[in-house]
Amino acid sequence: MTSSARTDSIVDVFEQAASSYDRTEVSYFEPFGTALVSCAGIRPGDHVLDVGCGRGAVLLPAAEATGPTGHVTGIDLAPTMVTLTADDVARAGLTQVEVRLGDAQQPSFAPHSFDVVLAGMVVFLLSAPEQALRAYARLLRPTGRLAVSTPGAYDPAFVAATDALAAHLPAELPRPAPTVGPFNDEQTITATMTAAGLDIAAISEHRVESRFHDVNHWMRWMWSHGGRELLQHLPADRLDAATADAARALESARTPEGDLSLTTAGRITVAVPRLRGPASVAAR
Ligand SMILES: C[S@@+](CC[C@H](N)C(=O)[O-])C[C@H]1O[C@@H](n2cnc3c(N)ncnc32)[C@H](O)[C@@H]1O
Repeated sequence: MTSSARTDSIVDVFEQAASSYDRTEVSYFEPFGTALVSCAGIRPGDHVLDVGCGRGAVLLPAAEATGPTGHVTGIDLAPTMVTLTADDVARAGLTQVEVRLGDAQQPSFAPHSFDVVLAGMVVFLLSAPEQALRAYARLLRPTGRLAVSTPGAYDPAFVAATDALAAHLPAELPRPAPTVGPFNDEQTITATMTAAGLDIAAISEHRVESRFHDVNHWMRWMWSHGGRELLQHLPADRLDAATADAARALESARTPEGDLSLTTAGRITVAVPRLRGPASVAAR
């Protein structure tokens, strides 16, 4: 698959997911978004770019942090994400926020336009993440910061449940396999940022607990985000059996209260353009 076909396919997954994304009564993207904004150190009046803004998990707390004297631009390639988030922004009366179609791989803005660039749970989806990071560095003002969140370790019960679903994929489709990517651990993140001309200011780990009533709730949540990519390849006549197998795999996550609890780790990396050198990182 070419990189542009892969981008189209990823964006289509989120386009289909947009109406329910982060709206299935589950705590997941919102707490990671709030943590990302808090780590980014946004100040009132800042100009902020949020790439791959989705339904605003990062954008909305960023707008709160800049206040009405700042400006936040959110871009996403999924048209329904853009429309629904723009509606939410208008309803909330956030006049300092603009949401528009735009490519997180190569955002088209003038150099040095932003105090902060934010990328919540998106850079690992891009076809050329290092080039994207290099582009974000160019968009930053000399005192600017880039803050990026990426997934860490998934809950073992989540891994077992998605493996149980994947076992029902048609034989000709490749099974999702863990890949050694540019954001796998702190060492690879540091190497990726360094190659993109950025110096690390901080990497921190954040854990989010998500609670599900039952396997059907978990499946509804899976349809509402990137997990949809796996589900949409399951043959319709395998869905019930796949769900039953996922339910068995999720039993280890059962709480004394009877619901299912999954904990996901995410990493937040804050980096600055190398122009200023490591000494200025230490001084921040
Ligand atoms: C996992 S979601 C994260 C959304 C949001 N940042 C959050 O934290 O909830 C990834 C988002 O990135 C968008 N996306 C994926 N590839 C993109 C690209 N090349 N350019 C812009 N948006 C992209 C998807 O449409 C989706 O809204």
